[in-house]
Amino acid sequence: MENLIDGRALAAQIHAETRQNADALRSRGIQPHIVFIRVGEDPASRVYVGMKERTSAELGLRSSTRVLPDSTAQPDLLRLIAELNADRDVHGILVQAPLPAHIDSPTVFAGVDPRKDVDGFHPVNVGKLMLGDDTGFVPCTPGGVHELLIRSNTRIAGAEVVVLGRGNIVGKPMAAILIQKAKHADATVTVCHSRTTDIAAHCRRADILIAAIGVPHFVKAHMVRPGAVVIDVGVNRIPDPSAKTGSRLVGDVDFAAVQPIAGRITPNPGGVGPMTIAMLMRNTVRAAQIQTA
Ligand code: GUN
Repeated sequence: MENLIDGRALAAQIHAETRQNADALRSRGIQPHIVFIRVGEDPASRVYVGMKERTSAELGLRSSTRVLPDSTAQPDLLRLIAELNADRDVHGILVQAPLPAHIDSPTVFAGVDPRKDVDGFHPVNVGKLMLGDDTGFVPCTPGGVHELLIRSNTRIAGAEVVVLGRGNIVGKPMAAILIQKAKHADATVTVCHSRTTDIAAHCRRADILIAAIGVPHFVKAHMVRPGAVVIDVGVNRIPDPSAKTGSRLVGDVDFAAVQPIAGRITPNPGGVGPMTIAMLMRNTVRAAQIQTA
């Protein structure tokens, strides 16, 4: 149908820009280098890091992956991060979440040099985003949703935006991006979560509805105002006996029910996911630019 927002096509636009910027750096003898750190063998994390490695290579970036055992002690992980912080050949560092339960993720994210924090999770970058200071790094998923809205010519200024989910990786930074007094922002943002009373009533007021709540098919037709722009950030694995693997991935939006009502809607897969990786690659090239300026 005609109302899809094609995340793959928009990500390809960003990749083309990133490749140009990477080429310009390489002509100065600098190849942007991102290091992925994966702790343990979480199957989803293996897939995600693999995709990021492949995309890095396609764009002419260098990537390295450090795989640590599940039993890694937090001080050892922090020591590795400190080494990479000090390594002038490394421009970006990404510690893949989720980390094993015995490791405190905020402490680990705060261990990355903010100038190499291409995930945008370090408190300095979180603070800069909140302050509207664009010298920091914006987390890739909400940054990707923002680019998706901009490049699909969605009106953001003055729009009623409802964000479902208040996590540190998507919901909170998403709201921070869209409430800024800035170009491509100036929205009125409502953040809903598990303790919100009558989520459906909030959702129905949204011109832009962004679902990052982590509940399969949470957004149903009755929650969507006709003509609204619906963005599905969800990646949920559900049992599916008919699938080879016994499970499949679904989003936070009941796509079949919502698509006929929405003005525009992201497919899932093929919507937000490709944009997330595109933003990571862009952040990595920017990190290399900043560190070699
Ligand atoms: N796990 C899920 N999303 C992300 C992300 O954006 N960055 C990292 N490092 N891990 C994640």
